[in-house]
Amino acid sequence: MKQEPRSPPLPHHFRYSKRISSAVKPVVYFICLLLAYSLGYLSSYTRNNYTHNKPPAHVNAVVSYVNTAISSGTEGDHNNFGAVCGEAVPSQNIRHTILERVFKGISPWQNFPPPRVDNLLRKKWVKGWGSKGAVFENLIRKVRPKTIIEVGTFLGASALHMVELTRRLGLNNTQVVCIDDFRGWPGFSDHQKFKDMKMVNGDVLLMYQFMQNVVNGNATESVVYMPFSSGSALEKLCEWGVFGELIEVDAGHDFHSAWSDINRAFKLLKPGSAGGVLFGHDYFTAADNRGVRRAVNLFASVHNLTVQVDGQHWVIHITNPSFSY
Ligand SMILES: *[C@@H]1O[C@H](CO)[C@@H](O)[C@H](O)[C@H]1NC(C)=O
Ligand SMILES: *[C@@H]1O[C@H](CO)[C@@H](O)[C@H](O)[C@H]1NC(C)=O
Ligand SMILES: *[C@@H]1O[C@H](CO)[C@@H](O)[C@H](O)[C@H]1NC(C)=O
Repeated sequence: MKQEPRSPPLPHHFRYSKRISSAVKPVVYFICLLLAYSLGYLSSYTRNNYTHNKPPAHVNAVVSYVNTAISSGTEGDHNNFGAVCGEAVPSQNIRHTILERVFKGISPWQNFPPPRVDNLLRKKWVKGWGSKGAVFENLIRKVRPKTIIEVGTFLGASALHMVELTRRLGLNNTQVVCIDDFRGWPGFSDHQKFKDMKMVNGDVLLMYQFMQNVVNGNATESVVYMPFSSGSALEKLCEWGVFGELIEVDAGHDFHSAWSDINRAFKLLKPGSAGGVLFGHDYFTAADNRGVRRAVNLFASVHNLTVQVDGQHWVIHITNPSFSY
């Protein structure tokens, strides 16, 4: 596909009424931001009752910095997650749009698997983390999504679980759009769980194993995927107008990856009748303290949204009827 030029920067699509004195120098806030993150302060004040606690002053400074930067449009790239998204593609055309744009209009499952990997794949190899939590059923029941977007799919455990749930709940046409570069992470094949994965010329065949898992789950018509990094895939979905009512963000767990993915995913949320929902895993373990939780909490503060907790997952409902993109 032809590489299209980037659109010129447009004002951020979220509007804020808050205006903070221009005399306050953004550089001061930026220093606060760095300090707050490097010292991990942002994670210390939140637990289940996050929204009922008052954040300490230095956290307010970070939130003000981000808000001022967004609303003034002067912050350069730091909080700029791209232009206004394209006009919404109707839900029933989303699969077709992605097949056309990513796969030249041909299902990647046609003639799958290729002979050279056929005997290297397992019939089913689904391993994930927290991919069967009750949160999935709770949210799918509530939102009844036509389109689910999953950022961070790995072997497809939670995606296939969601397909199963949509079927069980009579949502016959729901598409699950999976985003993953299918590379795992550097060194993941040393992990005890994955050391048996076959490697072909340095490629661990994660994408093919994911595809095989989808075949095994009879879900090739319910799942479509974007085999790219989350940033580039989310940016394109925005540009193409591919939105979802339920978006799971579960890719990079460091603060910067999570912050970027959450902000980009937010733009793709299309509130359904029960509201749109953004959610993700790993809000509570010690390791998450360093990244995901701080990104989620900062995001919620900046947008004045409430973080709910369901098992190990964070959940943000967008129910504001005047919510606009
Ligand atoms: C979903 O499919 C089942 C079985 O084919 C059918 O009975 C049901 O009416 C369908 N539901 C919707 C909402 O289309
Ligand atoms: C997939 O379809 C086959 C054949 O109809 C069936 O035996 C199998 O149980 C199905 N698997 C799932 C996960 O639905
Ligand atoms: C944030 O939300 C609370 C509760 O819904 C509301 O009272 C308050 O006015 C909101 N603040 C802003 C800046 O939107």
